[in-house]
Amino acid sequence: MKILVIGTGYVGTTTSLIFCEKGHQVTGLDLDDRKIQALTSGKLHFYEPGLEELLTKHITNRNISFTTDTETAIKENDVIFICVGTPMGKEGSADLTFVKNVAESIGRYMNRYKVVVTKSTVPVGTAEKVTNWIIKNQPTPISFDVVSNPEFLREGSALYDALYPDRIVIGTTSEKARTIMEELYKDFQCPVVQTNPKASEMIKYAANSFLAMKISYINELARLCDELGINVNDVSKGIGLDHRIGPLFLRAGMGYGGSCFPKDVNALLQTAKENGHLLSILDSVVKVNASQPLYFMQKIKQALGGDLQGKTIAVLGLSFKANTDDTRESPSLIIIEKLLDDQVTVRAHDPVVHLDNSPLSKVVQQFETVEETVSGTDAVILCTDWDDYKSLNWGELKPLMKQPYIFDGRNMLDKRKVESLGFHYIGIANH
Ligand code: UDX
Repeated sequence: MKILVIGTGYVGTTTSLIFCEKGHQVTGLDLDDRKIQALTSGKLHFYEPGLEELLTKHITNRNISFTTDTETAIKENDVIFICVGTPMGKEGSADLTFVKNVAESIGRYMNRYKVVVTKSTVPVGTAEKVTNWIIKNQPTPISFDVVSNPEFLREGSALYDALYPDRIVIGTTSEKARTIMEELYKDFQCPVVQTNPKASEMIKYAANSFLAMKISYINELARLCDELGINVNDVSKGIGLDHRIGPLFLRAGMGYGGSCFPKDVNALLQTAKENGHLLSILDSVVKVNASQPLYFMQKIKQALGGDLQGKTIAVLGLSFKANTDDTRESPSLIIIEKLLDDQVTVRAHDPVVHLDNSPLSKVVQQFETVEETVSGTDAVILCTDWDDYKSLNWGELKPLMKQPYIFDGRNMLDKRKVESLGFHYIGIANH
């Protein structure tokens, strides 16, 4: 099939490439000429393991091309995926400006029947809005269908998640569109949930919110475990082995970040509010998450004598999680902000994030190696769960530091091992 994917971010680029893998012909469209130029020359404009290799492969095989020409791209393709951003807008609701612009263009340039698929995470009722935006902009009526087909990929493992999804959700009331979507996904080995667009849109929010809830649950429990001297990792293991609970998303830490969970939980809360409901569990999920980095900061302060002014602290990890260069809503940045408020000199490191163009680069020194970063510091705070940090030689790092304090915001290290090297170690209820 000839597919057009509009938006070349994590979701759009990954979606494009997995459809190439399944033998389809894909055009990637973006208004940002720099992104299109980079992709055309085989370069990704973001960090995602494995994706660039696949991009090169499909450019060479001519399965994918990129363009900024909206009109031609819409006219030449019959299945159009909308993968543009839906950032957090007013009062937490999703901002649909980009989706609206795309829908209007589709209406304007439509020349024959199209299936328009929303893959971006969009609030319940958006398929209906997209339908209306298209109709309003059609010079003459041409039939089309709008399908909701949410994406569940994670940054850092986008390719694997998109190639081997747990399920595919197809939300449409049109038999014609359903048949086309089934054909498109026929080589994927997983259950397909057929439903209407509204339920499909809700499934995406409900899934992300549920996972966020698991994280806030274990984080809040971790605070009690800390008080009681209980290792929360053992609790996660003990409850996660129950099949009804499952082991994933029970890692206590500094709270969830990224471009999805914070945005999506807030958007669902906003949808509920607009419809006269309060989702009280999710309301608490947000509160627990917002206070988790502050809880950790309190522990850091306490351990270092209450006043951090004049101290030098190394922050290891800037991205919101490992294997991505995304710093959106990263707990690490919250910790840095608090440290700076307390007049701390912050030295930072990340294997892939570079602060070069960020305002933070003016107040935070970033170093190429962990050794340089921890030199002369009063403490190290582990903020991101990069594998690189799990395998550090702490015996060699200790003499470089002024004081041997490790604050492990991801419970990555073996407490006993680093304590045996003479470190003071504090994790998140990692006893
Ligand atoms: C998430 C969803 O997993 C994915 O299905 C959806 O399509 C997009 O949003 P992503 O934001 O890429 O993916 O990251 P994810 O791996 O889910 O982690 C989200 C946050 O939760 C990260 O900050 C991570 O560090 C944190 N987390 C995750 C925990 O604190 N503990 C856990 O046990 C798991």
